[in-house]
Amino acid sequence: MNVSIIGTGYVGLTTGVMLASLGHAVTCVDIDESKLELLRNGHSPIFEPHLESLLNHVLPQMRFTSSYAAAIPQADVVFIAVGTPSLPDGNSDLKYLRAAATSIGQHLGTDFTVVVNKSTVPIGSGNWVESLIRDAVEANGDRIGDRICVASNPEFLKEGTALEDSFYPDRIVIGADNSLGLEILTKLYTPILEQSFTPPEGLPRPKNLPSVALVKTDLTSAELIKYAANAFLSTKISFINEIAELAEKVGADVRFIAEGIGLDARIGRRFLQAGIGWGGSCFGKDTAAIISTAREYGIGMEIIQAAREVNFRQRARVIEKLMFELKILKGKTIGLLGLAFKPNTDDLRDAPALDIGRRLIERGARVRAHDPIAMNRFKFEHSDSGFHLTESPETLFEDADAVVLVTEWQQYRSLGWNDIVPRMKNPYILDGRNCLDRALLLEAGAKYEGIGF
Ligand code: UDX
Repeated sequence: MNVSIIGTGYVGLTTGVMLASLGHAVTCVDIDESKLELLRNGHSPIFEPHLESLLNHVLPQMRFTSSYAAAIPQADVVFIAVGTPSLPDGNSDLKYLRAAATSIGQHLGTDFTVVVNKSTVPIGSGNWVESLIRDAVEANGDRIGDRICVASNPEFLKEGTALEDSFYPDRIVIGADNSLGLEILTKLYTPILEQSFTPPEGLPRPKNLPSVALVKTDLTSAELIKYAANAFLSTKISFINEIAELAEKVGADVRFIAEGIGLDARIGRRFLQAGIGWGGSCFGKDTAAIISTAREYGIGMEIIQAAREVNFRQRARVIEKLMFELKILKGKTIGLLGLAFKPNTDDLRDAPALDIGRRLIERGARVRAHDPIAMNRFKFEHSDSGFHLTESPETLFEDADAVVLVTEWQQYRSLGWNDIVPRMKNPYILDGRNCLDRALLLEAGAKYEGIGF
């Protein structure tokens, strides 16, 4: 099929590369010429494991353009994967979505086209996108007839494992109020649904995955599924973080509790990792957006509201723990291990490290930080942060009063503790992700503290 994708961010680019490797002809559209130039030369503008190598592999099947005229008329399916950042009131900023929908309408071909909202968009956006396309077609003096179907196909990919999640998803959700549209999307995804494709190099098929579930729904249900999924996952993490706080007080260990409840198949083990809490581009934005939508209907969404409060309190608890240990923060040197909101990405959106570092600087502390991948992006996006970046994680410990592990990069788990802990002025290490080997740290002379035990 001819597939066009508007927006070459995490979602758009990963989806494009995945569909190209299934054999579809993919055209990616973006307004950023410098990004397009990188992509044409086989370079990924974002760090995501396997993305660049797979991009190079499928490059002959991909086109990159800023021209809707070159991308839309021949497309069987157009994915909209533009950014929908949060506005201060929690609503999503839909200016990119509006621009994409209008431009699609201006260049719509004569054959049936399925326009798919892949970005996380507020409930009702499918209908809105359809009306924008219709307006643009009519402004051209044309009639839309039954040439389009607007569908919702939410993505559930996680940064760091975006390609694994795209090739081997738990399920595919497609929602539309038009049976032909649903049929075309089912066909597009058949190789994934049946797992009939040859796995790309480095991305082996997980054992026991004979097929992938397909959930076909109406348009609005698919839109709400995305918000409900992210709200549930956010709540699950906040739930274990709230239990972690109690565990600390009563002298229990939250890691046992996560195991003890997670083995109940009704609860499940994943997303019960206590720590500094969630960040990133999705959970904060989507929980704010679902609350904002519900407010329009007079619904309070108290559970999701509480999940947000617990989450942001986790960041404050890091400061409280440091104040308890160091008493005075002014003039103290505190190292942050990890800047990205999670490992295996260079994404800094709503990264807890930014918030924690900012609060420390406000209190007069000196903040050092290291990240294996995200430092270049950090220098570019947060040049005024006041953080002092260190080239190696080891340098971060030199004369430090405390070190906080914020992002659980694999390489931080096996640092040479016997060498670096004695270099600290005060050997306090706060493991914000409960991922370090406590025994090794104690042996090296550290005062070790985790979250929830
Ligand atoms: C999330 C959803 O998982 C994905 O389905 C959706 O499409 C986009 O949003 P992502 O933000 O990339 O994906 O990362 P995810 O792995 O879900 O982690 C989000 C945050 O939660 C990270 O900051 C992570 O550190 C934190 N987290 C995750 C925990 O604190 N504890 C856990 O047990 C799991």
